[in-house]
Amino acid sequence: MTTPDPLAPATHCVHAGRPHAPGEPVNPPVVLTSTFAHGGEHTYARESSPAFAPFEEAVGALEEGRALVLSSGMAAASAVLATVPAGGVVVAPRSAYMGVLGLLREASADGRIALREVDLTDVAAVEEALVGADLVWLESPGNPLMEVADLPRLLAAARAAGATSVVDNTFPTPILARPLTMGADVVLHSATKYLAGHSDVVLGILVTGDDERGRGLYDAFHHHRHLHGAVPGPMEVWLALRGLRTLALRVERASTTAAVLASRLGEHPAIERVRYPGSGAMLAVDVRGGAEFAERVCTATRLWVHSTSLGGVESQIERRRRYPSEPDIVPEGLLRLSVGIEDVEDLWRDLSAALDGVATA
Ligand SMILES: Cc1ncc(COP(=O)(O)O)c(C=O)c1O
Repeated sequence: MTTPDPLAPATHCVHAGRPHAPGEPVNPPVVLTSTFAHGGEHTYARESSPAFAPFEEAVGALEEGRALVLSSGMAAASAVLATVPAGGVVVAPRSAYMGVLGLLREASADGRIALREVDLTDVAAVEEALVGADLVWLESPGNPLMEVADLPRLLAAARAAGATSVVDNTFPTPILARPLTMGADVVLHSATKYLAGHSDVVLGILVTGDDERGRGLYDAFHHHRHLHGAVPGPMEVWLALRGLRTLALRVERASTTAAVLASRLGEHPAIERVRYPGSGAMLAVDVRGGAEFAERVCTATRLWVHSTSLGGVESQIERRRRYPSEPDIVPEGLLRLSVGIEDVEDLWRDLSAALDGVATA
């Protein structure tokens, strides 16, 4: 069968990693084995397994690179950090996802790396910090401040400085951004979020380019996954591929809804500021009443699920400063909203009723 090339992302979502040969099942099987009879391609599932290939193929097709699945987004982040030599310099956003920031700050406190925290929206400051850097960590929009970085410019600066660049593409997904095509060396996903899309697995994935640096990084990540045991379970990988089939539809629907909600929230008297980058399904709002008001809104909604995480079919709401490890540049009254695929009017009725109810209580 010949296929038109290149395929659009929505088509990759449905077909990449799917068996097409006569007599094959339409979906790849769940491969539940830890070991393999000697003499073939695979030996032991911590090293490699056919359970991983279809999902890796699909994400690789979407991100236009070669993908390696790991047991969580943080396992993927750890594999990237492990490539930095002892004493190496890492440039990272001051408001990166708090888990990643915690990992980097710990490595810095232990003396393993030198960490330079920057405001990614200040290109000159990032360029200055890149001098002598080994790795630059980029996240755009940032979690949860929704700050947008000029990725092509920062990636060009990273390349000129000789630093390896990694882009956490969890928020935009490959439907809205493909950082390898902008010059990134590595793309990272918490596949727990949009890629899997149903809040039922914890999973990470790294994608590298096809140049010499990309191939070297892939080998280093594979070696790390093998030796550190950061392998996912076959069932999780299968569920993630199942979820990925609808990624384009989910992102399109949730993004349209998020734009409507962002605009209406901007008119609501209880909202001081809406942080919405203009696309995508994530947004944040600063409420006028601070931490207590924000917490009460979270428990007043009926549809919006008060829980951490994001990128599921269900809408989620959370005050981020409830975590002591959330950087203190995040306002106390900031609510992070992950918009799901429910009906927009139902979501608005639920959210605005919660805001109104708390405001008049
Ligand atoms: C932007 C971002 N990157 C990475 C991670 C870590 O991923 P995981 O929870 O799958 O380890 C998260 C988790 O919330 C995240 O939001």
